[in-house]
Amino acid sequence: MNPFYITTPIYYINAQPHIGHAYTTMVADAIARSRRLLGDDVFFLTGTDEHGQKVERAAQKAGMKTEVFAEQVAGTFRQMCRDLNISNDDFIRTTEPRHHRASQELWRRVAANGDIYKGDYEGWYCTVDEIFVPEMQLVDGRCPTCGNKVERLKEESYYFRLSKYQQPLLDFYDAHPDFLQPAFRLNEIRAFVEAGLQDLSVSRTSFQWGIPVPDDPKHVMYVWFDALTNYLTALGFGSDESRADNQRGADLLGPRVERYWPVVTHLVGKEIIRQHALYWPAFLMAAGIAPPRRIIAHGWWLMGGAKMSKSIGNVARYQDYVAVFGVDALRYFVMREMPLGQDANFSDEGILARFNADLANDLGNVVSRTTTMIARYCGGVVPASHEGSRDDLDRALEKHMDAAIDAVKAHFGTVQITLALQAAWELIRSVNQYIVQREPWSLAKKPEQRPKLDATLYHAADALRVIAALTDPVMPEAAGRIRRMLGVPQEQWTDLKAGTLRAGTQLGAIEALFPRIEKTVEELRSMDEKPIGGAGEPAAPGATQAVGAGTTPAEDNRISIDEFMKVELRVAKVLEAEAVPKSKKLVKLTVDVGTEQRTIVAGIAEAYQPEQLVGRTVAIVFNLKPAKLMGIESNGMVLAASVDGGKPILVAFDEPVPPGARVR
Ligand code: MSP
Repeated sequence: MNPFYITTPIYYINAQPHIGHAYTTMVADAIARSRRLLGDDVFFLTGTDEHGQKVERAAQKAGMKTEVFAEQVAGTFRQMCRDLNISNDDFIRTTEPRHHRASQELWRRVAANGDIYKGDYEGWYCTVDEIFVPEMQLVDGRCPTCGNKVERLKEESYYFRLSKYQQPLLDFYDAHPDFLQPAFRLNEIRAFVEAGLQDLSVSRTSFQWGIPVPDDPKHVMYVWFDALTNYLTALGFGSDESRADNQRGADLLGPRVERYWPVVTHLVGKEIIRQHALYWPAFLMAAGIAPPRRIIAHGWWLMGGAKMSKSIGNVARYQDYVAVFGVDALRYFVMREMPLGQDANFSDEGILARFNADLANDLGNVVSRTTTMIARYCGGVVPASHEGSRDDLDRALEKHMDAAIDAVKAHFGTVQITLALQAAWELIRSVNQYIVQREPWSLAKKPEQRPKLDATLYHAADALRVIAALTDPVMPEAAGRIRRMLGVPQEQWTDLKAGTLRAGTQLGAIEALFPRIEKTVEELRSMDEKPIGGAGEPAAPGATQAVGAGTTPAEDNRISIDEFMKVELRVAKVLEAEAVPKSKKLVKLTVDVGTEQRTIVAGIAEAYQPEQLVGRTVAIVFNLKPAKLMGIESNGMVLAASVDGGKPILVAFDEPVPPGARVR
């Protein structure tokens, strides 16, 4: 069995997981599953990156011990793996003792090679936030986070001799042209290296939450030195087992390192290419360890035109989409929609459209037509293929099946899952066409056409078996359900080919695979139990909830006064109020905002009767883009406190205030 090692980045714990983290993890999972289907011995790793000043301070702010805080957020990433049906073999946390040992072992090796030396780190320091701010991030000589003046400060630091590795890195890139994909990324990195490399500061003394530098524990390691090492930790690097090997003089790194390294695939987002394609190989070369063989850098999920990220606040929660569409549909959507290396827009409209067109219609149809006709016309047993009665149409379908198998395998090999899914869907559509052309329902009316009917349903079922196998890595649950309906076991990709379904196979119970969703996006957003959470979209209080309340507080979430001033809050008076039909939460308000009358849909119906609202003075967000909720255009948002698990409570004023007055 070929060893195959695949990793995701380990995620920072200063934010709850969102669609971005979910994406990388799901793609890595699909790749891991595809390699298992090809018979490889797969090791699939994901985990959390838990050190650094940001985490230390986020914990302080939350009033928690750092360890407890870390444990709690790491738990949400573990939960994400369970929620998304991720088949990881290990989950690493950088706070684990095994990882401390491995990082210190790597440090010792690099230091023993003469590539770490002590110096001073000098930079602009913000005494309020207690961080060094890179020069290019300064705003008029001030900290971009808090607006305070920064000071020039020096701190003792260890340095890594990155400059020494300029030529070795260039040689390595030349020897491994497939090292970084997409290929244009390698050109960018090469140009960066050619421009010259400066030594890298790899330790800090200004905070404690990190891995102590061996023999100088007042320093903790630079988070990336520690973080990147996780990929070796999980293979047992630095463990007693690997040390014993070293003592025998063999310079083995432990049996699992020997097995899975360096033929590894690091799947990462494009913003951390430099750390993976430059620092990491250099650290490893300095430690006498071979650099990783393959780095795949994917693009970003955008929302409202910007990278989905916690600091901007435009994040979508994967949980909301799983609740509405199911895990497999989410997995399908993100992998179908984002071509390797490019950015893509995440939108509620996009996922709903793909769900109905590709899953409910294309795939759903082929499954339900084939299985129900076998149930109806063949007593629920796969009929014989009647070799003798095969014609060009049957042969063309078989050919298409074999071609699709080859294409899907090839595209998975180059991690172009979008193309793999396109190839699978071409097959799905051609099976649907084949059924329409053959009209089994007409054949069934003529007894002399029995062999043709049998052959048709045999080929459709055979194709369905292949479709289940090809979609398995992306939609493991749906593929399993198709197989159960067909009564066939899971198949390895190694021996997958057309025409091997056994006639006489007894079908299982038939069920709808992806029932069509007849609701509009607006209706889905305002559903009571299963809201979908397009952040950046205007939302009625309580109707949608982006990551925020009740989640981890972190200092990088703060906004400047200018940003706050962009939000125009005003006093408004409720003139009319009526319940929104078919919604428990929503109420439609007509409000006087001083300059005009407006309609606002608010998610406060569970706490307030319409008649209690008329005449009330409320606070609203005045300059919100309009949004449709249950088909009604809402122009603004009413402010209310939302207590976890409780009902919304309207913001009110101590003294009478006229409509239109600004709130700030
Ligand atoms: N801790 C570092 C990685 C260390 S690896 C040794 C880190 N963590 S992170 O929490 O910021 O996660 C970054 C990764 O999450 C990205 O590289 C990407 O895989 C995924 N994504 C986070 N936001 C994303 C999008 N908006 N779009 C796509 N992927 C995104 O960096």
